[in-house]
Amino acid sequence: MAANLTWSIGWVDNINPDGLAPRRVIGVNGKWPIDPIVATLGDTLVIHATNKLDVDTALHAHGLYQNGTTYYDGAAGITECGIAPGSTFTYNIPIQQTGTYWLHGHRYGQYVDGLRTPLILRPQNQTRLKFDDEIVLSLSDWYHQEHKPLNDFFLSIFNPTGKEPIPDSGLINHSANTVVKVQPNKTYLVRVVTMSALAMFNFYIEGHDLTVVEVDGEDVEPFPAASVPIAAAQRYAFLFTAKNTTDFNYRIHADMDMSMFDSPPDTLNPFVNATLQYSPTAPMFAAPADQAPDPTAFDQTQLVPVTPIAPYSNDQSVRYDTVFQLFDDGANHGTFNETIYRFGDVPPVLTAMTMGNLATDPRAYSPFNQVVVTEHLKGIEIILNNMDAGKHPFHLHGHKFQVVAIGDGVYDPVAGAANITALKNPMRRDTIVVPTQGYAVLRFYADNPGVWFFHCHIEWHLEAGLASLFVEAPLEMQKKIKVPNSINEQCLLLGKKVSGNAMGYNDTTTFPGLSMSRVYPTGFGAKGIVALIGCIISALVGLGTVVWYARADTTPGKPASR
Ligand code: C2O
Repeated sequence: MAANLTWSIGWVDNINPDGLAPRRVIGVNGKWPIDPIVATLGDTLVIHATNKLDVDTALHAHGLYQNGTTYYDGAAGITECGIAPGSTFTYNIPIQQTGTYWLHGHRYGQYVDGLRTPLILRPQNQTRLKFDDEIVLSLSDWYHQEHKPLNDFFLSIFNPTGKEPIPDSGLINHSANTVVKVQPNKTYLVRVVTMSALAMFNFYIEGHDLTVVEVDGEDVEPFPAASVPIAAAQRYAFLFTAKNTTDFNYRIHADMDMSMFDSPPDTLNPFVNATLQYSPTAPMFAAPADQAPDPTAFDQTQLVPVTPIAPYSNDQSVRYDTVFQLFDDGANHGTFNETIYRFGDVPPVLTAMTMGNLATDPRAYSPFNQVVVTEHLKGIEIILNNMDAGKHPFHLHGHKFQVVAIGDGVYDPVAGAANITALKNPMRRDTIVVPTQGYAVLRFYADNPGVWFFHCHIEWHLEAGLASLFVEAPLEMQKKIKVPNSINEQCLLLGKKVSGNAMGYNDTTTFPGLSMSRVYPTGFGAKGIVALIGCIISALVGLGTVVWYARADTTPGKPASR
């Protein structure tokens, strides 16, 4: 069976989801929002994607294993070069799992401009859960400006402290006024997908208890929760049973976590909500003002996967320390081990396929990036130490990882090992929030030969370079995987290369045009002074920008160049 979609990806004008400011957005077939996608285990999801933008694009099915089809993972610059403007590329994605996922643009923050939609993968027979109907709710943050100018400013010398752009609104199902109709006494399966660029939400339904049954597509034993904190790219599915009367309607909340925002404006309403409607004429249930459930009461480590798996072995361990620092380009970057991820001319999938034994040398993929090459069928451990003052949702492509430790401070692998061994069936998911000044330890099993991006799913941080790469079993890839010609064709259309190391040479030393990004200025300790100078410059330029914008206004009809 195939779920077949024909998508023409392009700008759609005059869209106003929060009712505050119309703008153009990236939609499909002239429409926005994009319809959710539904497919069944065993299907092939076929998407014929025509790119009507004036830059390249790519579509990533977030959380899908793509076992055997790493080249359809849709991470531009990693598993493909991108779809060239004006051309068509077909994704053939095997559906190897069930649950709640999403599909989003994976190029230039295009999903922040609207290229995102839920992706629901159903089992062939639903036997585990009993419910009468299904509800899909997407949570997103919304910006009145387009991603490109916001990102250019974010990564400029005028933003030395790296303040992320703050959304103008939060949306449930792409609207500020969503109504969800329910009938008394029925049981509903609610799938919640967060598709935000930055915002994290506390999700709950007033007057109703939730029973979590799935996390990031992984089925878990029923777990009661008053509310669930849910970060960019995370998903949960719940069951709830409707009241037996239609006396009231109730608010569905996705309250934004304001601690994610650096000095948010007073105009930003964190109380994003929708209506759970029993009757169009019923009054809204008036919850006591202080009743919002505490999101920290929800302990995700208590979730128990329905299919038990003991901790994977620790055959190879990698440690990433995350900090934000000023770099020699004058911008503030998120880093793994003081490294910013930079793309070369050859996507790593083609480096892995074309370099023979050299493909097992991480330097082939760029000696300036954090790259880990793993062997086939080994247990891999990732230790994440977040030294930053913000929390970060980290995502690994191609796998669900086990969360074997999470806590405050810097992880101690010696003390931690015994605790991990004692675990019987740790929670598995594909996106994990690593706490402020805290750590998470993840393990995955390298049974999926391919190249898998690992990055912060705050889109601004990905753009800032907070990413690394796992090249899983490249020799196995060379034996088992056949990259379709269409991948090479797109690379050539985009002026990229299709073989060799990151810059197209058949060695691990020649990388013309790539270089190490350096923390700025090398050896200069007084970062505060640098930041201060940056702030002064930015204030002066701020004045200049006002003048410049006033002048730019007189040039009619010129879209921002991308
Ligand atoms: Cu939602 Cu790199 O992905």
